[in-house]
Amino acid sequence: MTRPDYALVTGASQGLGKFFARALAARKQNVVLVARSGEKLEALAGELRDSHKVLAEALVCDLAAPSAGRQLALRLRERDLSIGLLVNNAGFGLQGEFVKLPLERQLEMIRLHDSAAVELTFELLPHMVGRGRGGIINVSSMAGFQPIPYAALYSATKAFLTTFSMALREELRRSGVKVVTLCPGRLRADPEEADGQEERSKVPGGEQGHEEVVKEALKKLDAGGGLVIPGRVNRLTVAAQRLIPPNAVPKIVARMSKP
Ligand SMILES: NC(=O)c1ccc[n+]([C@@H]2O[C@H](COP(=O)([O-])OP(=O)(O)OC[C@H]3O[C@@H](n4cnc5c(N)ncnc54)[C@H](OP(=O)(O)O)[C@@H]3O)[C@@H](O)[C@H]2O)c1
Repeated sequence: MTRPDYALVTGASQGLGKFFARALAARKQNVVLVARSGEKLEALAGELRDSHKVLAEALVCDLAAPSAGRQLALRLRERDLSIGLLVNNAGFGLQGEFVKLPLERQLEMIRLHDSAAVELTFELLPHMVGRGRGGIINVSSMAGFQPIPYAALYSATKAFLTTFSMALREELRRSGVKVVTLCPGRLRADPEEADGQEERSKVPGGEQGHEEVVKEALKKLDAGGGLVIPGRVNRLTVAAQRLIPPNAVPKIVARMSKP
């Protein structure tokens, strides 16, 4: 009997990850949901099993811990869970002067956004390549296209992820494994979360809905992978930025990002 195939979504307890899980389950894709909030994951797994009749597993894991990606891959092997699609989505933001933000929290950000994504990709990719099919969606950000003073680590970790992901796509072009690099601008607050009701500052390009961002990412996956910058204003911003001298960019951005 063939083993069932799963999509693994990190950061599936809320926000974009939850919407990825729902969209994948709606496509009859079994899912492994990963985050630290076990109760939320179990509730979502139950919802997806009931509404879409798919297999849904909840795995509690702190992906900001050292070697967490490798440990998670080990748990997947122990449970004989075959992963055909990896969505590296878990993440968080930090705003403030680099030197005033807690160092440990900033190192957690590097481990969560970059180390865990690299480790999971390294561990799960051989299985996909061996079968000649599979997919990886790396959820990066518009923040990765330029240095952002007062969010220096956030923009740096996302620049790393974007560069890694786009290079990997090229390496895997003939392997049957598709890689999507997703760079959203500001997302709408998750309406199902209590902090989703807070007032948020306006950003160029406006806020985007989770569903439309997920839809664009999955469309690109179906089309063979590549870079996705959801929203026309965001795409224009990235293109226009290339025309500004690199030294001037952080100065301009600092005026907008200073808390
Ligand atoms: N929000 C935006 O405007 C925006 C814009 C561009 C890109 N992005 C990127 O999109 C992705 C999703 O963002 P979002 O807005 O949906 O965030 P969110 O609503 O805050 O959700 C973040 C998810 O990541 C999980 N997570 C956080 N720390 C974790 C850890 N140490 N280990 C495992 N899971 C962890 C959270 O679950 P637990 O707390 O349960 O662990 C949660 O499921 C992130 O990579 C973010 O950088 C967001």
